[in-house]
Parts: sequence; structure tokens; C-alpha cells
Amino acid sequence: MAEAYKIIDHTYDAVVVGAGGSGLRAAMGIAETGLKVACITKVFPTRSHTVAAQGGIAASLGNMGPDHWQWHMYDTVKGSDWLGDQDAIEYLCREAPKAVYELEHFGVPFSRTEEGKIYQRAFGGMTQNMGDGPPAQRTCAAADRTGHAMLHALYQQSLKHDTDFYIEYFAIDLIMVDGECKGVIALNMEDGSIHRFRSHSVVLATGGYGRCYFSATSAHTSTGDGGGMAIRAGVPMQDMEFVQFHPTGIYGAGVLITEGARGEGGYLTNAQGERFMERYAPSAKDLASRDVVSRSMAMEIREGRGVGAEGDHINLHLNHIDPAVLHERLPGISETAKIFAGVDVTKEPIPVTPTVHYNMGGIPTNYHGEVVTLKDGDPDSVVPGLFAVGEAACVSVHGANRLGSNSLIDLVVFGRATAHRVGATIKPFTTHSPLPEDSADFALGRLDGYRFSKGGSPTAAVRLAMQKTMQANAGVFRTSEVLEEGQRKIDAVYQQMADIGIADRSMVFNTDLIETLELDNMIGQAVLTMHMAASRHESRGAHMHEDFPKRDDDSWMKHSLGWFRDGGVRLDTRPVHSYTLSDEIAYIKPKARVY
Ligand code: FUM
Repeated sequence: MAEAYKIIDHTYDAVVVGAGGSGLRAAMGIAETGLKVACITKVFPTRSHTVAAQGGIAASLGNMGPDHWQWHMYDTVKGSDWLGDQDAIEYLCREAPKAVYELEHFGVPFSRTEEGKIYQRAFGGMTQNMGDGPPAQRTCAAADRTGHAMLHALYQQSLKHDTDFYIEYFAIDLIMVDGECKGVIALNMEDGSIHRFRSHSVVLATGGYGRCYFSATSAHTSTGDGGGMAIRAGVPMQDMEFVQFHPTGIYGAGVLITEGARGEGGYLTNAQGERFMERYAPSAKDLASRDVVSRSMAMEIREGRGVGAEGDHINLHLNHIDPAVLHERLPGISETAKIFAGVDVTKEPIPVTPTVHYNMGGIPTNYHGEVVTLKDGDPDSVVPGLFAVGEAACVSVHGANRLGSNSLIDLVVFGRATAHRVGATIKPFTTHSPLPEDSADFALGRLDGYRFSKGGSPTAAVRLAMQKTMQANAGVFRTSEVLEEGQRKIDAVYQQMADIGIADRSMVFNTDLIETLELDNMIGQAVLTMHMAASRHESRGAHMHEDFPKRDDDSWMKHSLGWFRDGGVRLDTRPVHSYTLSDEIAYIKPKARVY
């Protein structure tokens, strides 16, 4: 198979797949240690999905009031509904301030307080004094374009440290030899050439798989390519049933309106003009955690109090906020609301609805970014040579529900941790053992399978069937009946992959072929999401199972693991890490989660 293509070979110490916040932070950090690093990305780095992150990055700087990393940790553990690993959460929250100051020094143009400090706003679920105090203003912001600012600074730093970029290259598959990752096979989409990247380590920083759903705030490029590659390499996915719905996607368009809008004083109302969050979360109200707000909105709509002709959305008000504040702090969403909803935010409410936003689940890793699997009874067994960071990974710091602004901090803290680990374990100029003759065959066989496919189903039709099924059967509220139907339907969509037909056989900028490979990456994750949701018989965080409406710590305080191969699913579990890294904080014991 492989000899049909001329393969261009490259040799690196490390290869990073993906150039969003986590990929760039990992790449620049690895390069900084003197190792030779390549970054492969299917879009130009500054177009990666991190660019869309708006409201900010969480760190307990304490610029707007008292704060401590322990308070941040408490909120994150509670936000995760006690499914997060507390060793990893401690690492995240302790390292967060350092990571933000580092970004400041890299040139991120943070908004400023009167005294010139980094401006911080309130975000959902962030409190003072281990949940007992008032809201904490912990989210460091560059107006409402924080991800955009970070991505530019990190790209510049990566260039400064001599990262080699392979831009508009699509990673097809990992090179796995006897269970170890030895590199990646990629397609240069511009000229159709095939490239084999041999490396001591591969970092998957490919983002989430939000595009499995019909309506998502995610970019169309969020197709879970790293997850797809990991699944095919025999790695399990972790906690896939936990899909975050952001409360404020613009109705009909799915475009994000930052939680920072509520952090700056915005509020939600139903058709009766009632500020209904006061009933669901008497203390935090509109700034309860996302799963709580999204569910409350869905309840209002379900009980006939939604707004609009079809009563199917909610109003978000910013029109009471001083236009000068909107202009300074929320300029991006003011423009977005105008373009996508035709709304002048100084005068009218924005129509919003809960919209798929983030995957808490992903490729399981430890807090060094090393991919782990369940092997010989060891749930923390490392897959040699393979790392994952960012939304592609499940560290797990977000557990069953991520707090807003904990995503950007996850990218840079664990991107940096991964760089440290790679730097500590690989010495510059370490020689590579020869690859087997057939090292590209698996990837090229898969490529050819779709390139020469002759079935009757267009890729777009199969993708739409997947997206509609996920939207209808793995939504905010789930029941056994809906999930059983969902499993049947999504399994049938998977079977339809065998009937895909591509008309264009070209290797050069063949978007049909690329979209098919992306769909192939998504479908396994869609199947696992549905099956893992059906198997978790409790409600926790973003997984609201109406037949099992309570959290069940006795039976379900554990991570789900799922393998997918040839349409078959195998499920297992691994323990939640119920220990911290240091004696500066004790294990935070589970309790009822109220806001
Ligand atoms: O609402 C937002 O600005 C999104 C932030 C996040 O998902 O962390």
C-alpha cells in the first residue's frame, strides 16, 4: 500500500499536532529546552479554535479582591461535581497565576484596572473562601477577545523559539510500534504530498469534537482529530458522556456570547420577564455553573416559559449596562449580537439558547500530559511517546462540568507541563530506532479506503445524520429511552460510513476527502459519547439522566473509559484520584452541590 505514494520523511524529537493554545504552549516550551520540534496544523495557527475564546482565563491573582489558589481549587472540584482528579486540579490552580504572568510577559494585551493591574471579571461558579464567600473576580480578560490575544502571543513565541510549522497539513494517523508512539503520518493538503514524521514523542493538541453536534459554538474544524487517532491506536476515551452546553449561544446561529456578559452584570429572563435563575440558584443566580444555568433555561423552555414565536429560547439582557462599559469590556459580543441576531445590545436583549460548547471527556492523561490507559490492572499506565493536552485531553481537571475560563488556563498550564515532561525525558540528539517498513501502511490504507470509496452516501449526509442524532439523543436532559434510541441510531450512522462515496480522487486540496477523514475521526467519539451516557446511571454535572436524577457517589464516583473498534464498544472504569499533590490542601470531600 505505502509504495503507491512517495513519502517525504522528517525526523524530530517531538511533534505537536494542533496549533491552538495548548499546542503552541507545548511546542514553544519543548523548543525552549533545545529539542527539535515540529507543529503540524490543519489551519493557520492563529485561526485555531482558541481564537474564539472570549471571556478570559482563570487564575487567583487577587487583583480585584481577596483570592487564593485553594479557593480556585475548591470551586473547580465543586464545579466538576467531584469527578475531577484532585492532584491535577491542585496542579492547575497552583500553577495558574504563574502561567498568566508568563502570558503577560509574552505580550498578551490584558485589560487593566485603574492601577494598571490585569483586569479580572466574575465568572460562573467562582467564589471566595471555599465556596462560603461572595463571588470571586478571578477571570483575567483581554476585553472579550482573550483567546485571540493569547493565540497571537503564543504563535509569536513559538516562532521565536524555532518551532518548525507544517501549516495546512492534516495528520492522518499515529505511527504505533509495539504499543509505543513513534510519529505521525500527515497529508500536505496544498500539494497532496504524504509526510512521515518520526519522533520520540507526539503531543495531540487537536481540540474537542464539538462538531459531532448540530448546533455548537465550536469551529467547523473542531472534529476531534486527535481523539480519532488515539481511538484507532487502541487508546480508550475517558468521560465522554460529559458534554458542556454553554447557556448563551445565539439562538439559531450557535455563536457564543461570553459568560463574561453575565460577569459584567447581564441577566437572563423568560417570556414573563422573570429573572428565573433566582429560583434555581438563589445565591449565585445567573453566575451559577454552566450545567446548572443551561438546565434551568431548558426547564423554563420545557415548561412553556421560553421566549419568541416558538417559545424556544431565552433573553439575555445587557441593555441596562452603561454603553461605555459594553464598549470597553464587551466590544466583540456587541458586534456579534448585531451581526448574528440583528440586536443592538444597548437597547434590546439577545436571544440565546444552551449550545454545545466543550467536551469534558477526551484522551486520558496524567498531569504531565502523558496519555494513560488501563493495562494489566493499572489504570495509570503510560502509553510511551504519546501526550495529549487541551480539550483533546481529559486530565481530568473539569470532571463532569467545566467552569468557564478554566479552559484557557488548562491549555497553558498543561501545555507547559507537557513541555517540561518531554524536555525532562528526551535528551537532544537522541538517535531514533529504525521504523518498520510498513509504518505508513495503516494511515495510507485508511486514506485510500475513503479516497477510492464508491458508496451511495455523501459525506455531508452521513455527518448530518450523526449531528442530528447527537443533538436529539445526547442533549441537556437524557432518559434511558432516549439514550437507547440514540445508541441504535448512532450505531446505524457508523454503519453508513461503509457506504460513503467520494467523487473527487484528487490528493490536492480535496475538501471532500478531508471532511470524510474528519467525519471518521468524529464518529467513534459520537458513538462512545452515546454509549457512555447510556451506561452512567446517575446524574452528575453535565450528565442529567432523568431516570437516575441524583448523583450516586457509591456506585459512580469513577471515570468512564471506552474503547471503540469496528463498530464495537467496550466500556470500563478507572478510579477518580482522591488525593492532592501537597499538604497545603487536603482532599475536598464530596457534598451536595448548590449555588
Ligand atoms: O463564555 C466564555 O467566554 C467562554 C469561556 C470558556 O468556555 O471558558
